[in-house]
Amino acid sequence: MTAAFDDWMKTVQAGSELDLSGFLPAATVVPAKLHAAMRYALLGGGKRVRPLLVYAAGALFDADAGALSRAAAAVEMIHAYSLVHDDMPCMDDDELRRGKPTVHVAYDEATALLVGDALQSQAFMVLAEATALPPARQMAMLRVLAHASGSAGMCGGQAIDLDSVGLSLTLEQLEQMHQLKTGALLRASVVLGALAGKELDAAELQALNDYARAIGLAFQVVDDVLDATADSATLGKTAGKDAADNKPTYVSILGLEPSRALAEKLRLDAHAALAPFGDKALRLRELADLIVQRKA
Ligand code: IPE
Ligand code: IPE
Ligand code: MG
Ligand code: MG
Ligand code: MG
Repeated sequence: MTAAFDDWMKTVQAGSELDLSGFLPAATVVPAKLHAAMRYALLGGGKRVRPLLVYAAGALFDADAGALSRAAAAVEMIHAYSLVHDDMPCMDDDELRRGKPTVHVAYDEATALLVGDALQSQAFMVLAEATALPPARQMAMLRVLAHASGSAGMCGGQAIDLDSVGLSLTLEQLEQMHQLKTGALLRASVVLGALAGKELDAAELQALNDYARAIGLAFQVVDDVLDATADSATLGKTAGKDAADNKPTYVSILGLEPSRALAEKLRLDAHAALAPFGDKALRLRELADLIVQRKA
């Protein structure tokens, strides 16, 4: 990781934090408990990988800055909502997230449910406000985020995850689950960044999709590896949970070293997919490295 990448990442993360804060009601606005809990779930934590992907993809297509900031905030809101619900007792039943007690622990279960619901609505609100983009482009962006969030995307993957406890999935089934529960929102981040810019031709779209599929899967392969190998303090969430809960993961099905090797292969696939873009894709290449080489 170069110093220039590090600076760029910190700038995007700080900008996203400000945008996210600005796109949420203040914690004093009624209903104050719900708004405080939404801010608790969304602000002051997280790697902000999805906003980073939005901005890096946007840079390839000279994207509009205002549209990018809305897209980045919207996808991070959906992601934060997915984490709040993922941690609830009816799903993974986890007490630690982003280094803090989970929302249902810090508040209560009903509040956590509503925080997820309200963050999801707010995401679409933020993306639906007028920007410099033509309305048809904005409609396309809304559709991409909705598709990636729903039963054909993240929610669908979460449903398969919950139905798979104690089962040994085939590699094909495992990949499908991961591409949906985690890959879908990461792919959407890349596509949203691109849609905020100039028209893409079919070859560019294909290259971007190939990149996004590779990093989308790699992200959850690495999440599985870290769950099995890192500690809770480093992760800011409970380590060792997948094995304890008898979840099928890349580690349980493929083994630790083959999972690491797969993540590395996907990193190289992601780089190869970006070849047609040349130097302009530097940040996307670096993000593929970050996704695979991260320690948390
Ligand atoms: C964790 O996502 C849940 C998955 C989708 C694997 P991240 O690792 O991006 O979590 P934050 O946003 O940095 O907390
Ligand atoms: C969660 O996968 C994916 C989503 C939240 C959609 P995990 O259950 O593995 O995520 P962590 O490990 O709790 O962050
Ligand atoms: Mg889960
Ligand atoms: Mg979980
Ligand atoms: Mg996990």
